[in-house]
Amino acid sequence: MPKIHFSSPLDDVTVEVRPGTPILEAAEDCGAQVGHSCGGVCACSTCHVWVRKGLESLSEQQDEEIDRLDMAFDVKPNSRLGCQACVADEDLEVWITEESLKAYMDENPDVRRKLEAEGKWPPKK
Ligand code: FES
Repeated sequence: MPKIHFSSPLDDVTVEVRPGTPILEAAEDCGAQVGHSCGGVCACSTCHVWVRKGLESLSEQQDEEIDRLDMAFDVKPNSRLGCQACVADEDLEVWITEESLKAYMDENPDVRRKLEAEGKWPPKK
């Protein structure tokens, strides 16, 4: 099964997934801190990630995702929405964008408070 390695300034985590799994679902399964304000229905851009390896193997981008990414911050050629991009059979390296990490902390105030108390949030630039 393919593996996804999630990275951010806060954490690194790797998970094995079944082909066809959306990146966001994989993140939730392994505790990677990918935001998802709309619940994964392509109605926000908080699951915005940069795919640093394996981009070409992902499911094809649909118009709805392209339109939604237009509203995201710091969009790059390797940007995808985690709720729309599904894994094929290649390993991926995924960077969690600042936009997504901030959304995750807003959605998980207990985690944010813990990291603040440890001096880890917000991350040093
Ligand atoms: S979770 Fe809202 S667009 Fe992906």
